[in-house]
Amino acid sequence: MTYTLNDDSPLLKPFDSGVIHTPHRVFMAPLTRLRAESDGTPTDLQTEYYRQRAGAGLIITEATQSSASAGGAYMNTPGIHNDAQQAKWAEIAEAVHNEGGQIFVQTWHVGRVAHPDLPGGDPVAPSAIAADGKAHGPNGSVPLVTPRALETSEIPGIVDAFRTSARRAIDAGLDGVEIHGANGYLLHQFLGDDTNQRTDEYGGSPANRARIVIEIVKAVVDEIGADKVGIRLSPGHKANGMNESDTVPVHQELLRAIADIPLAYVHFLIEPTDPVLATLRPEITVPFLLNTGFAIESDFAQLEKLVADGTADAVIVGRWYISNPDLVERLKKGAELTEPNQATFYAPGAEGYTDYPSLETQNA
Ligand SMILES: Cc1cc2nc3c(=O)[nH]c(=O)nc-3n(C[C@H](O)[C@H](O)[C@H](O)COP(=O)(O)O)c2cc1C
Repeated sequence: MTYTLNDDSPLLKPFDSGVIHTPHRVFMAPLTRLRAESDGTPTDLQTEYYRQRAGAGLIITEATQSSASAGGAYMNTPGIHNDAQQAKWAEIAEAVHNEGGQIFVQTWHVGRVAHPDLPGGDPVAPSAIAADGKAHGPNGSVPLVTPRALETSEIPGIVDAFRTSARRAIDAGLDGVEIHGANGYLLHQFLGDDTNQRTDEYGGSPANRARIVIEIVKAVVDEIGADKVGIRLSPGHKANGMNESDTVPVHQELLRAIADIPLAYVHFLIEPTDPVLATLRPEITVPFLLNTGFAIESDFAQLEKLVADGTADAVIVGRWYISNPDLVERLKKGAELTEPNQATFYAPGAEGYTDYPSLETQNA
């Protein structure tokens, strides 16, 4: 497939927000690729992978553990909660900066999607309700378990892990942090009325269900500055067993509570035709990044239109960046795009990870 972005394409206009200054508006999506060490330390292979993709303008990294007990949904996901991990992230940041790119780390807690068979897996959630799904651990696929409901007294520790991991990110030289509030992981589990049946101040009303997310945004902003912070949300996304019935009011509460904070961006994973987007869009007071999602293969004509008409300020692209490290160069030239090989999305090693050619290496 080919697509040509003309010189006057809205996607080729510079983007400036907070610490982000990029020459175009086609940013790289957070993509879990399972190439870290089993203890969450990033590897040289990851450094090379991100270095190759520095032309994305802004890279949002794969989801990364905010604490030692925040992961355990998949094997070999990275963390950013100890010195060894931080040192390796510093190498990644330097490699991306040397190529002229910028990089935000996406920090997460997987909540009930964790499995006790996996390293760091501590399935906790707002309520003791299991997700319908499987974990992929050392012993193969296993059904997810019923999580333990977090005590109210544990919540400050969860918030604090997002704060301290953000501090480590900045100390490592990364440009900023994206708080992962999407895709059915812990923060989304708090937002959802199906997954959150708490009776304390973190459950019940939309304002209560949004509370932990608001506290995390404020804590991270307080630690590193709003200009270095973004948040990803996926209102209504039925990922990891989510099935919210009131996604609009809870996301409204959240967006209103953070409206006065000059975040670098708010990022949604949502289909552009979803009426939830039209309802929530006016609540967003900072630059808006849109990932059109799994239902539609990123259609670049549509992405151009979404930025031209102001629906989004920049677009986020996932799978095309997996297989085209120099995606924007290819789009500028109308060069053939390499199709991604799904079989190697989560496989170990360089194959399907760092061996996709750029135009330069392809023609060398
Ligand atoms: C291999 C793979 C890994 C992903 N990992 C993450 C992740 O770590 N964090 C996240 O927020 N979304 C993750 N996603 C979702 C992507 O960010 C994106 O929303 C999705 O791929 C749709 O965009 P696309 O059509 O441009 O690929 C992942 C998707 C894929 C295909």
